[in-house]
Amino acid sequence: MAATFSGRKCIIMEEKIIELLKKKRDYLSGEEISSQLRISRQALWRHIQSLKDLGYDIAAVPHLGYRLESSPDKLFDFEVKYGLNTKILGRKILYFDSLSSTMDMAAQLGMNGASEGTVILAEAQTKGRGRLGRAWFSPKRKGLYLSLILRPVILPTQASILTLLSAVSICEALKQTTGLVPQIKWPNDILINNKKLGGILTQIIAETDKINFVIIGIGINVNNDKKSLILGATSLREQKKERVNRTILLQEILRKLEANYLSLIKSGSNSIIDKWRQHNITLGRRVKVYCQNREIEGEAIDIDADGGLLVRKDSGLTEKVISGDVVHCR
Ligand code: BTN
Repeated sequence: MAATFSGRKCIIMEEKIIELLKKKRDYLSGEEISSQLRISRQALWRHIQSLKDLGYDIAAVPHLGYRLESSPDKLFDFEVKYGLNTKILGRKILYFDSLSSTMDMAAQLGMNGASEGTVILAEAQTKGRGRLGRAWFSPKRKGLYLSLILRPVILPTQASILTLLSAVSICEALKQTTGLVPQIKWPNDILINNKKLGGILTQIIAETDKINFVIIGIGINVNNDKKSLILGATSLREQKKERVNRTILLQEILRKLEANYLSLIKSGSNSIIDKWRQHNITLGRRVKVYCQNREIEGEAIDIDADGGLLVRKDSGLTEKVISGDVVHCR
């Protein structure tokens, strides 16, 4: 059997060797590894060389064996799965060195019946997409760029709750893994200190009243250095003044997403909306919302059960906005 590993086909043996070395956390003799995996010492040596080529630092000491010193900063599928402990999200992970956009790959896989929870990861995107037709700058191994496939049994009109759910989950994961306090700008901008750290792009593939599948695309600036960021953007590295482990952050995002998704399915959207309110910085402010062909100005008073923004205009009338670009006026 073969698996995708660093974009090439690689025998699962390498993954097994890494798993053994991770569990041992010390030297493991070549004899022990060879006998557990039922391979010769020469074959083991060859697999160790190919792991080194992939960026693993493995010490080899005569009479002691092999010890994993460090792993490369790459989001290999099995690295993300290791210790993940989710039931649905990440059961299947597809890892790519580079893609035009993880959204395109997810759409293709979704049409071909990919199961709920499939995650598509790319180290770089050449045509990363943002909301409202914008581009999403996706330099190699600097950020997290992923799309995940969900097959919820909800109406297409309710699907925007999944965007709110994703924003909440990302905030929870960021807080837990970095200690930073992220905020959400309606509908789905993730900000830190008023600068954009990440965003969510939701694509729904539906018939009139039935969702076939939903793609949640997530982009987060992680280890981008300050000077490579566009105006108004930030990265975790800029905020923390140190590099952040992308695998650990990604795992926590998947765990939080799964927990919130299961809660949505079981108990409805109230708790997600409450959590969104706690993290948001839009409600209570004067806003200008740029919709497709008009502008609405007023006070952002609340969101409704579908995630729509309720804006009370100066005339006293309240309008619901489903999508648009929000500017906080004060
Ligand atoms: C936004 O405009 O705020 C949403 C940005 C979403 C970017 C992510 S990166 C992974 C996925 N693939 C894409 O092409 N876009 C989304």
